[in-house]
Amino acid sequence: MIEVSLARPADRVHDVCRRYAPDRENLIPALQEVQETEGFLSPEAVDAVAGYFRLSPNNVYGVATFYAQFRYRPPGRHCLKICQGTACHVQGSGVLLDAAQRTLGIRSGETTVDGDFGLEELACLGSCALAPAVVLDGVVHARQTPKKLNTLLEKARS
Ligand code: FES
Repeated sequence: MIEVSLARPADRVHDVCRRYAPDRENLIPALQEVQETEGFLSPEAVDAVAGYFRLSPNNVYGVATFYAQFRYRPPGRHCLKICQGTACHVQGSGVLLDAAQRTLGIRSGETTVDGDFGLEELACLGSCALAPAVVLDGVVHARQTPKKLNTLLEKARS
């Protein structure tokens, strides 16, 4: 859960960064914690992190964009994660991902324009017997098909 503080985003980011020595090896953990706190890496957050680590914002983006875990837009009100681990892949999770991308009109890692849904891919959830599995707002849904997934999305939207 993301807690919202009344402090300015740059101040909150600075508070997070101060828990780390300003060494480059701490950049990824700091970015992870900033994303956990803020929900995503806004330009303002990246600027604040860059200032703390004495890097340029481009340096920070250069590192962050190497990792799929970072988001640069606010997360959706609903978060859909589709497992792409081996067991789920064999059971058709690629088809699920294609269907979700078509239905929502976004690609993995993006948020719908209306802010309703964010879409992410996951590595194995550790629930391979449920393959192909998806997680919608923290709840695991087993043995999904594109039709079942559309029903889940419609219910979440209503
Ligand atoms: S591969 Fe999807 S839960 Fe293990």
